[in-house]
Amino acid sequence: MIYAKITGWGKCIPPAKISNDELSQIVDTNDEWISSRTGIKERRVSHASTADLATVASKHALACAGLTGEDIDLVLLATCTPSTMVANTASLVQKNIGATGAAACDTNAACSGFLYALQNATAQIKAGMIKRAVVVAAERMTWYVNWAKRDSAVLFGDGAGAVVLEASEEPCGLLGTKTGCDSGDRDILHIANYGTDMNKYQPTGPSDLLFEGREIFKRAVKGMSEACDDVLAQANLRLGDIDVLVPHQANLRIIQAIQQRLDIQDDKVMVNIDKYGNTSAATIAIALCEAVENGLIKPNSNIMSAAFGAGLTWAASYIKW
Ligand code: ACO
Repeated sequence: MIYAKITGWGKCIPPAKISNDELSQIVDTNDEWISSRTGIKERRVSHASTADLATVASKHALACAGLTGEDIDLVLLATCTPSTMVANTASLVQKNIGATGAAACDTNAACSGFLYALQNATAQIKAGMIKRAVVVAAERMTWYVNWAKRDSAVLFGDGAGAVVLEASEEPCGLLGTKTGCDSGDRDILHIANYGTDMNKYQPTGPSDLLFEGREIFKRAVKGMSEACDDVLAQANLRLGDIDVLVPHQANLRIIQAIQQRLDIQDDKVMVNIDKYGNTSAATIAIALCEAVENGLIKPNSNIMSAAFGAGLTWAASYIKW
């Protein structure tokens, strides 16, 4: 039996920070509102492109795995903020990391994108189609933020995280997974004036992240909790078997609600939303990387991860490290 072991990980955190207090100087908000409603204290803003963020994270992950780009068969980039639509942004990452023999493709499932891409690359390795993949998630969410609108300006940030997957006989990597999409209400979360649908968008109009926060909040808690239940059943596990929860970082209260629903202790939950805000597809990739760095994830850790985002997409994954 072939598995897809995670042998490398890396991230790219842009150096420029905007704190809540700094934001409150340009829009009508304050640290108390943002911290208590979201858990966010500051976010990073990138002056580099999504492809640049993805390249740095991928290079760190390759170095961690002791590989070079030439060893890679597939580059999957999860993003909803690509540097370019045509050619795809993954092709630029492929070029930048020297993975000239690799297939390269963008995956857009918004905040669920990293887990979707991880599932795809793992399936290809397990099927024997490829041997090694880079799965990278990178976002430049602040490019689309309307800084004059306090409801969305406070939530988002930029960054990237990446993993290297390699074919292995060790039973580890992604061992349980469930992805889905509730398209019926896809309009409750979208970027306006971005895309080719002329009936809906005005290419010259201002872009904006539009969402019904309270509705998404409820659906995210329900969607992620139920997806975790499905994956536990699929992997024949009980909740007590999970060592670390690595959830999508959209709101600390969403994370806490999932934690409560799943009955998981505080010290088993990876949280970094205070530092970065919501970096969409990149949140889980960055959080995985930091959980390894801070010792929360150890060799053989049983990890549950879950995401919810525009589409409305959702995903949960059981990963053995
Ligand atoms: N600063 C100060 N006041 C604000 C701000 C702000 N930045 N933003 C909104 N308010 C005001 C509103 O105008 C409203 O005022 P009113 O009562 O006088 O009308 C009041 O605060 C309450 O607004 P709510 O929307 O009810 O606040 P809520 O507690 O629901 O929190 C939030 C809003 C943080 C967006 C929450 O609903 C949420 O996190 N939702 C899910 C996350 C989400 O939608 N993220 C988008 C990406 S999707 C994803 O990643 C899953």
